[in-house]
Amino acid sequence: MVKAVTNNRERWQSKWGFILASAGSAVGLGNFWRFSYLAGMNGGAAFILVYLVSVLVIGIPLMIAEFLVGKLTGLSIVSAFRKISGNRKLWVALGLIGVIASFVTLGYYAVIGGWVVSYLGQALSGNLPADSVASTAAFGLLSTTPALQVVWYTLFSLIVAGIVSQGVRAGIEKYNRILMLMFLVLLTGMAIYALTLPGAREALGFMFKFDLNKITPLVMLLAVGHTFFSLSLGTGIMIAYGSYLPKKITLPFASVVISIIDAMVALLAGIVIFSIVFSFGLLPDSGTGIAFVTLPPLFAAMPGGVYLAAIFFFMLAAAAITSAVSILEVVATYLMDEWKISRRISTWGSAIFIYLFGLIWTANDITLVDKIAGGYLLVLGALAVSLLIGWTVPINSLAKTLQTKTNHPMLKGFYLLNRYLIPVILICLLVSGTL
Ligand code: TRP
Repeated sequence: MVKAVTNNRERWQSKWGFILASAGSAVGLGNFWRFSYLAGMNGGAAFILVYLVSVLVIGIPLMIAEFLVGKLTGLSIVSAFRKISGNRKLWVALGLIGVIASFVTLGYYAVIGGWVVSYLGQALSGNLPADSVASTAAFGLLSTTPALQVVWYTLFSLIVAGIVSQGVRAGIEKYNRILMLMFLVLLTGMAIYALTLPGAREALGFMFKFDLNKITPLVMLLAVGHTFFSLSLGTGIMIAYGSYLPKKITLPFASVVISIIDAMVALLAGIVIFSIVFSFGLLPDSGTGIAFVTLPPLFAAMPGGVYLAAIFFFMLAAAAITSAVSILEVVATYLMDEWKISRRISTWGSAIFIYLFGLIWTANDITLVDKIAGGYLLVLGALAVSLLIGWTVPINSLAKTLQTKTNHPMLKGFYLLNRYLIPVILICLLVSGTL
């Protein structure tokens, strides 16, 4: 294990290692599975436009805010909230919500991660279903047969815990570097290929021809809610990753780069998925099953489809693993910081409990838990962070951590966003309850 630089806390080895790890957290199943079905069912371009604006106005400032909380305190969510608030119970409890949300989210995220690994196995062995009837049946069988899912779920969970137990540099940073770089190269290649398909033009129209009438309140809610999920905000992941930062780093730059990578990946994934779907004269509004049910038989019918399918599900697996790693890190680092337990025991201990709890989702529908843990709790967590930055941290501490002047207009803007605009938007989201 690599030695920590100061106060025994491990640090990232390099700025780009940190950026790739955070991008690895952000880029995940959300960019493929969640983004494509949400956009597909909610007017395409209308959803995408609101989503992009929301990344800009809410996502980036909140990501900076989470990194700041981590860097300022050198601690993970609960300990950081405790330190900044002067040990106030309410804040400790709000921090714990982030840990609980991570605990719950990872359970069902790993079940879907297991599906991806299973599809990768089928693609590699040339066993993907060849027509839509077989595909629907195959997915139905997998998602309703706990015994089948447990195998893949276990494999996925072991990979994730294995990476996290090796620590920040030798585990999280190292594997993110490898997996994310491969991922980005493969996805770019695949998107370029997708643009040569007959359905590409229609896909681009669907994604980028804005029709203002399609922007309904529901579309806005879903798009803003998805911003948190996609950028991994609201559970303390970016706080943990920020706590491993060395002194010298420009957080706004890093946050913008990470958010751009995440949004680009969602768009490229959309181009790939929708181009294929339109090329076969289908509509992209089939719901959550689009990646698992609609695509496999289409791959089977394409020239070179066997390879494309293998690459596609490998990318999905890489993206899912790097995100799951970051979710586990929240729980593990909570045990390390609050209870002073070693990384190895924290990681395997929390992984085992999450694993056992998550077994529920191999036999039950995940829609509701995705709505609560992947929706409400994230918004609540994000609200806590923005209020903490906007109302309890003095602006000169912010200026110091961001290495800027107190009266810098960008800092002022950032401060006011966190103090007023973002909390108001988030409270509206929570109250309207349609997430
Ligand atoms: N951002 C990841 C994705 O798009 C998922 C994810 C990672 C996440 N960490 C999270 C979602 C924390 C909610 C909360 O797939």
